[in-house]
Amino acid sequence: MQDTNSDDRVYAFGYSPAAVGLMESRSAEVNAAFLLPKLADDMSVLDIGCGPGSITTGLADKVRSGRAVGLDIEAGQIQIARERARSAGLRNCEFDVGSVLDLPYPDSSFDVVFGHTILMQFADPDPVFNEVKRVLRPGGIIAFRELDFAASLFGPAGSAIEAVWSTLRRSILDNDGFPDIGRHLPRLVSEAGFQVEWARPEYVNASTPEARKAMYGAMAALWQQAGFVGDAVEAGWLTQDERAQVLSRLDVEAGDMRVLSSTTYVEVLARYSAD
Ligand SMILES: C[S@@+](CC[C@H](N)C(=O)[O-])C[C@H]1O[C@@H](n2cnc3c(N)ncnc32)[C@H](O)[C@@H]1O
Repeated sequence: MQDTNSDDRVYAFGYSPAAVGLMESRSAEVNAAFLLPKLADDMSVLDIGCGPGSITTGLADKVRSGRAVGLDIEAGQIQIARERARSAGLRNCEFDVGSVLDLPYPDSSFDVVFGHTILMQFADPDPVFNEVKRVLRPGGIIAFRELDFAASLFGPAGSAIEAVWSTLRRSILDNDGFPDIGRHLPRLVSEAGFQVEWARPEYVNASTPEARKAMYGAMAALWQQAGFVGDAVEAGWLTQDERAQVLSRLDVEAGDMRVLSSTTYVEVLARYSAD
Protein backbone atom coordinates (compact mmCIF):
# COMPACT_ATOMS: atom_id res chain seq x y z
CA MET A 1 0.00 0.00 0.00
CA GLN A 2 1.39 3.37 -0.95
CA ASP A 3 1.13 6.52 1.13
CA THR A 4 -0.91 8.93 -0.92
CA ASN A 5 -1.42 12.62 -0.19
CA SER A 6 -4.77 14.27 -0.37
CA ASP A 7 -3.61 15.78 -3.71
CA ASP A 8 -3.29 12.17 -4.98
CA ARG A 9 0.50 12.25 -5.26
CA VAL A 10 2.39 9.39 -3.67
CA TYR A 11 4.55 10.62 -0.80
CA ALA A 12 7.38 8.08 -0.59
CA PHE A 13 8.33 8.57 3.10
CA GLY A 14 4.69 7.98 4.02
CA TYR A 15 2.92 8.69 7.29
CA SER A 16 3.68 5.54 9.27
CA PRO A 17 4.55 6.05 12.97
CA ALA A 18 8.22 5.42 12.05
CA ALA A 19 8.19 8.12 9.34
CA VAL A 20 6.40 10.65 11.55
CA GLY A 21 8.82 9.83 14.40
CA LEU A 22 11.75 10.62 12.10
CA MET A 23 10.23 14.00 11.22
CA GLU A 24 9.43 14.73 14.86
CA SER A 25 13.07 14.24 15.82
CA ARG A 26 13.89 17.38 13.80
CA SER A 27 14.22 20.80 15.43
CA ALA A 28 14.77 24.43 14.48
CA GLU A 29 18.07 24.41 16.41
CA VAL A 30 19.51 21.65 14.23
CA ASN A 31 17.56 21.64 10.99
CA ALA A 32 17.09 25.39 10.58
CA ALA A 33 20.28 26.48 12.37
CA PHE A 34 21.46 28.33 9.25
CA LEU A 35 18.32 30.48 9.28
CA LEU A 36 18.17 31.36 12.99
CA PRO A 37 20.73 34.23 12.91
CA LYS A 38 18.57 35.97 10.29
CA LEU A 39 15.38 35.91 12.37
CA ALA A 40 14.22 39.02 14.22
CA ASP A 41 11.70 38.80 17.05
CA ASP A 42 8.82 40.40 15.09
CA MET A 43 9.15 38.49 11.80
CA SER A 44 6.47 36.36 10.14
CA VAL A 45 7.75 32.96 9.01
CA LEU A 46 6.08 30.34 6.83
CA ASP A 47 7.24 26.71 7.01
CA ILE A 48 6.05 24.90 3.88
CA GLY A 49 5.58 21.11 4.05
CA CYS A 50 5.93 21.36 7.84
CA GLY A 51 4.91 17.75 8.61
CA PRO A 52 4.29 17.26 12.36
CA GLY A 53 5.61 20.78 13.05
CA SER A 54 8.62 20.16 15.30
CA ILE A 55 10.73 22.66 13.32
CA THR A 56 7.88 25.17 13.00
CA THR A 57 7.31 25.40 16.76
CA GLY A 58 11.03 26.02 17.25
CA LEU A 59 10.86 28.83 14.69
CA ALA A 60 7.83 30.32 16.49
CA ASP A 61 9.93 30.44 19.64
CA LYS A 62 12.46 32.68 17.83
CA VAL A 63 9.86 35.18 16.58
CA ARG A 64 7.89 35.69 19.79
CA SER A 65 6.29 38.99 18.81
CA GLY A 66 5.86 37.86 15.20
CA ARG A 67 4.34 34.58 14.03
CA ALA A 68 5.21 31.23 12.54
CA VAL A 69 2.80 29.41 10.25
CA GLY A 70 3.21 25.80 9.21
CA LEU A 71 1.48 24.37 6.15
CA ASP A 72 1.12 20.76 5.06
CA ILE A 73 -1.06 18.89 2.59
CA GLU A 74 -1.84 16.17 5.11
CA ALA A 75 -4.53 16.94 7.70
CA GLY A 76 -3.20 14.29 10.12
CA GLN A 77 0.21 16.02 10.23
CA ILE A 78 -1.42 19.38 10.91
CA GLN A 79 -3.43 17.89 13.76
CA ILE A 80 -0.21 16.62 15.39
CA ALA A 81 1.49 19.99 14.79
CA ARG A 82 -1.40 21.99 16.35
CA GLU A 83 -1.33 19.78 19.43
CA ARG A 84 2.44 20.34 19.72
CA ALA A 85 2.03 24.15 19.59
CA ARG A 86 -0.85 24.03 22.06
CA SER A 87 1.02 21.96 24.62
CA ALA A 88 4.09 24.21 24.24
CA GLY A 89 1.82 27.19 25.02
CA LEU A 90 2.80 28.95 21.79
CA ARG A 91 0.31 31.67 20.88
CA ASN A 92 2.13 32.89 17.79
CA CYS A 93 2.13 29.56 15.97
CA GLU A 94 -0.59 28.45 13.53
CA PHE A 95 -0.98 25.54 11.17
CA ASP A 96 -2.96 25.18 7.95
CA VAL A 97 -3.82 22.32 5.66
CA GLY A 98 -2.98 23.25 2.06
CA SER A 99 -0.69 22.72 -0.89
CA VAL A 100 2.60 24.42 -1.60
CA LEU A 101 1.37 24.64 -5.19
CA ASP A 102 -1.50 26.90 -4.14
CA LEU A 103 -0.59 28.65 -0.90
CA PRO A 104 -3.70 29.91 0.95
CA TYR A 105 -2.13 33.30 1.81
CA PRO A 106 -2.29 36.80 0.30
CA ASP A 107 0.62 38.28 -1.67
CA SER A 108 3.57 39.66 0.34
CA SER A 109 2.42 38.17 3.63
CA PHE A 110 5.67 36.67 5.02
CA ASP A 111 9.17 37.93 5.82
CA VAL A 112 10.62 34.43 5.58
CA VAL A 113 9.66 31.20 3.82
CA PHE A 114 11.40 28.08 5.11
CA GLY A 115 11.20 24.51 3.84
CA HIS A 116 12.85 21.28 4.98
CA THR A 117 12.81 18.25 2.62
CA ILE A 118 9.80 19.58 0.74
CA LEU A 119 11.22 20.67 -2.65
CA MET A 120 12.58 17.13 -3.17
CA GLN A 121 8.95 15.99 -3.50
CA PHE A 122 8.79 17.71 -6.91
CA ALA A 123 10.69 16.82 -10.09
CA ASP A 124 10.18 20.46 -11.07
CA PRO A 125 10.16 22.79 -8.03
CA ASP A 126 9.51 25.93 -10.13
CA PRO A 127 5.74 26.06 -9.42
CA VAL A 128 6.61 25.98 -5.70
CA PHE A 129 9.12 28.84 -6.11
CA ASN A 130 6.44 30.87 -7.92
CA GLU A 131 4.06 30.55 -5.00
CA VAL A 132 6.86 31.31 -2.53
CA LYS A 133 7.73 34.52 -4.43
CA ARG A 134 4.10 35.58 -4.38
CA VAL A 135 3.64 35.27 -0.60
CA LEU A 136 7.09 36.66 0.26
CA ARG A 137 7.38 40.39 0.92
CA PRO A 138 9.92 42.25 -1.26
CA GLY A 139 13.38 41.76 0.20
CA GLY A 140 12.17 38.66 2.06
CA ILE A 141 14.28 35.61 2.82
CA ILE A 142 13.95 31.99 1.74
CA ALA A 143 15.76 29.14 3.46
CA PHE A 144 15.63 25.56 2.21
CA ARG A 145 17.37 22.41 3.40
CA GLU A 146 17.07 19.45 1.05
CA LEU A 147 18.58 15.97 0.75
CA ASP A 148 20.95 14.75 -1.92
CA PHE A 149 20.57 10.96 -1.90
CA ALA A 150 23.20 10.35 -4.58
CA ALA A 151 25.78 12.38 -2.64
CA SER A 152 25.14 10.43 0.56
CA LEU A 153 27.87 8.08 1.70
CA PHE A 154 27.38 4.41 2.61
CA GLY A 155 30.21 1.98 2.91
CA PRO A 156 31.21 -0.64 2.23
CA ALA A 157 29.06 -1.17 -0.87
CA GLY A 158 26.20 -3.58 -0.35
CA SER A 159 25.41 -2.53 3.21
CA ALA A 160 21.82 -2.87 4.44
CA ILE A 161 21.58 0.83 5.26
CA GLU A 162 22.47 1.60 1.65
CA ALA A 163 19.64 -0.73 0.52
CA VAL A 164 17.15 1.29 2.60
CA TRP A 165 18.24 4.63 1.15
CA SER A 166 18.56 3.41 -2.42
CA THR A 167 15.06 1.88 -2.31
CA LEU A 168 13.66 5.13 -0.93
CA ARG A 169 15.53 7.11 -3.60
CA ARG A 170 14.10 4.92 -6.34
CA SER A 171 10.61 5.31 -4.94
CA ILE A 172 10.93 9.11 -4.85
CA LEU A 173 12.17 9.12 -8.45
CA ASP A 174 9.38 6.79 -9.49
CA ASN A 175 6.85 9.19 -7.96
CA ASP A 176 8.05 12.30 -9.80
CA GLY A 177 10.24 13.52 -6.98
CA PHE A 178 13.81 14.88 -7.00
CA PRO A 179 15.89 12.84 -4.50
CA ASP A 180 19.22 14.38 -5.63
CA ILE A 181 17.95 17.97 -5.60
CA GLY A 182 20.55 19.06 -3.00
CA ARG A 183 23.40 19.67 -5.45
CA HIS A 184 21.07 21.60 -7.79
CA LEU A 185 19.48 23.74 -5.10
CA PRO A 186 21.64 26.90 -5.29
CA ARG A 187 21.32 26.96 -9.09
CA LEU A 188 17.55 26.32 -9.04
CA VAL A 189 16.98 29.02 -6.45
CA SER A 190 19.06 31.46 -8.48
CA GLU A 191 17.28 30.60 -11.75
CA ALA A 192 13.96 31.18 -9.99
CA GLY A 193 15.02 34.80 -9.40
CA PHE A 194 16.37 34.72 -5.83
CA GLN A 195 19.77 36.14 -4.86
CA VAL A 196 21.68 33.36 -3.11
CA GLU A 197 23.48 34.67 -0.01
CA TRP A 198 24.67 31.42 1.49
CA ALA A 199 24.87 27.74 0.45
CA ARG A 200 26.53 24.66 1.84
CA PRO A 201 26.37 20.84 1.78
CA GLU A 202 26.45 18.97 5.05
CA TYR A 203 27.08 15.31 5.90
CA VAL A 204 24.82 14.06 8.68
CA ASN A 205 25.84 10.83 10.37
CA ALA A 206 25.54 8.92 13.60
CA SER A 207 29.11 8.94 14.93
CA THR A 208 28.83 7.21 18.29
CA PRO A 209 27.56 3.70 19.10
CA GLU A 210 24.57 5.21 20.96
CA ALA A 211 23.58 7.57 18.14
CA ARG A 212 24.05 4.74 15.69
CA LYS A 213 21.74 2.46 17.62
CA ALA A 214 18.98 5.09 17.59
CA MET A 215 19.44 5.85 13.88
CA TYR A 216 19.46 2.20 12.84
CA GLY A 217 16.42 1.51 15.03
CA ALA A 218 14.54 4.30 13.27
CA MET A 219 15.57 3.03 9.83
CA ALA A 220 14.59 -0.55 10.70
CA ALA A 221 11.15 0.67 11.83
CA LEU A 222 10.78 2.64 8.60
CA TRP A 223 11.78 -0.41 6.57
CA GLN A 224 9.10 -2.47 8.34
CA GLN A 225 6.30 0.09 8.19
CA ALA A 226 6.70 2.29 5.12
CA GLY A 227 4.56 1.72 2.05
CA PHE A 228 7.49 2.29 -0.30
CA VAL A 229 9.11 -1.01 0.76
CA GLY A 230 5.98 -3.04 -0.01
CA ASP A 231 5.67 -1.18 -3.30
CA ALA A 232 9.30 -2.03 -4.12
CA VAL A 233 8.53 -5.73 -3.60
CA GLU A 234 5.40 -5.44 -5.72
CA ALA A 235 7.36 -3.69 -8.47
CA GLY A 236 9.98 -6.48 -8.43
CA TRP A 237 12.82 -4.20 -7.24
CA LEU A 238 13.46 -6.62 -4.37
CA THR A 239 12.07 -9.96 -3.16
CA GLN A 240 10.36 -10.64 0.15
CA ASP A 241 13.47 -12.60 1.13
CA GLU A 242 15.74 -9.66 0.38
CA ARG A 243 13.41 -7.39 2.35
CA ALA A 244 13.71 -9.68 5.37
CA GLN A 245 17.50 -9.96 4.96
CA VAL A 246 17.92 -6.18 4.92
CA LEU A 247 15.99 -6.00 8.19
CA SER A 248 18.14 -8.57 9.97
CA ARG A 249 21.37 -7.10 8.54
CA LEU A 250 20.35 -3.64 9.81
CA ASP A 251 20.30 -5.10 13.28
CA VAL A 252 23.86 -6.41 12.88
CA GLU A 253 25.18 -3.27 11.16
CA ALA A 254 23.82 -1.10 13.97
CA GLY A 255 26.66 -2.36 16.16
CA ASP A 256 29.32 -2.42 13.45
CA MET A 257 31.29 0.83 13.50
CA ARG A 258 33.05 -0.21 10.27
CA VAL A 259 29.90 0.48 8.24
CA LEU A 260 29.60 4.18 7.38
CA SER A 261 26.19 5.76 6.94
CA SER A 262 26.00 9.44 6.16
CA THR A 263 23.26 11.41 4.44
CA THR A 264 23.95 14.66 2.63
CA TYR A 265 21.82 17.77 2.96
CA VAL A 266 22.24 21.07 1.14
CA GLU A 267 21.18 24.34 2.76
CA VAL A 268 20.48 27.52 0.82
CA LEU A 269 19.58 30.96 2.05
CA ALA A 270 18.51 33.59 -0.49
CA ARG A 271 16.66 36.87 -0.82
CA TYR A 272 13.93 37.98 -3.17
CA SER A 273 13.70 41.49 -4.58
CA ALA A 274 10.74 41.60 -6.93
CA ASP A 275 12.39 44.13 -9.34
C1 LIG B 1 9.81 14.80 4.32
S1 LIG B 1 8.43 15.56 5.09
C2 LIG B 1 9.18 16.93 5.86
C3 LIG B 1 8.41 17.45 7.03
C4 LIG B 1 9.13 18.59 7.77
N1 LIG B 1 9.44 19.68 6.90
C5 LIG B 1 10.40 18.03 8.38
O1 LIG B 1 11.46 18.20 7.80
O2 LIG B 1 10.30 17.40 9.43
C6 LIG B 1 7.59 16.33 3.71
C7 LIG B 1 6.22 16.90 4.06
O3 LIG B 1 5.74 17.58 2.90
C8 LIG B 1 4.36 17.39 2.82
N2 LIG B 1 3.92 17.63 1.44
C9 LIG B 1 4.10 16.85 0.36
N3 LIG B 1 3.54 17.44 -0.72
C10 LIG B 1 3.00 18.61 -0.30
C11 LIG B 1 2.28 19.66 -0.93
N4 LIG B 1 1.97 19.62 -2.24
N5 LIG B 1 1.91 20.72 -0.20
C12 LIG B 1 2.18 20.78 1.13
N6 LIG B 1 2.85 19.81 1.79
C13 LIG B 1 3.25 18.74 1.09
C14 LIG B 1 4.15 15.95 3.30
O4 LIG B 1 2.81 15.73 3.71
C15 LIG B 1 5.17 15.85 4.42
O5 LIG B 1 4.60 16.15 5.65
